[in-house]
Amino acid sequence: MKNIQISPSILSADFSQLGTEIKKLEEGGADMIHVDVMDGHFVPNLTIGPPVIKALRKHCSLKFDVHLMISPVHKYIKAYADAGADIITIHPEATQSLGESIKTIKDLNKKVGVSLNPESKIDLITEFLDQIDLVLIMSVNPGFGGQKFMPEVLDKIKQLKKIQQEKNLNFDIEIDGGINFENSKIAIDAGANILVSGTTVFKSNDGDIKKNINLLKLK
Ligand code: DX5
Ligand code: ZN
Repeated sequence: MKNIQISPSILSADFSQLGTEIKKLEEGGADMIHVDVMDGHFVPNLTIGPPVIKALRKHCSLKFDVHLMISPVHKYIKAYADAGADIITIHPEATQSLGESIKTIKDLNKKVGVSLNPESKIDLITEFLDQIDLVLIMSVNPGFGGQKFMPEVLDKIKQLKKIQQEKNLNFDIEIDGGINFENSKIAIDAGANILVSGTTVFKSNDGDIKKNINLLKLK
């Protein structure tokens, strides 16, 4: 049984104070930092890129869990690896060859994640499950924080869990979008072991990050 980890999304942080904000996450007990990279093309929002990740790298010793919601993604992978990403998660629809992109991330000695949007089927990634470190299940349509959790994606997590046990695979199952104190338990019970959360971590309980992280972990 994997430990439950919390990967707070800086999408909900104060972008004018990102260095201070990620320090607060580290002090608050975050297990890693979820960095939502958006290009205004794959998703209808634009956030940050390699220069900002590079600048943040020296302010935090936690792993950077970088979620690339960009397309095309393949030609930019090395820039995110060089900027300091530890986990690089891509969407299968954003690359011409998922196998090639997975190999590129691994050749750069980074952990590789693949993300499925709510309407994307597991069939897109089944053949790659033995090559990847993490599957990121989107529980909102990517682009913005603060959206409503889509419980129908939990079936995909249960399917992944079953495949993982049948094939004795060890990839992490991460869920991203609308995670809060009411639904974190059903996400964990379905099989997720990493919870991404932006709004709940930064905005609940008057912004008490440590308390919010602990509540999500069901400590
Ligand atoms: C959507 C983003 C958000 C973010 C989490 O593209 O990926 O899901 O990480 O946002 P909250 O926790 O505010 O839903
Ligand atoms: Zn994300």
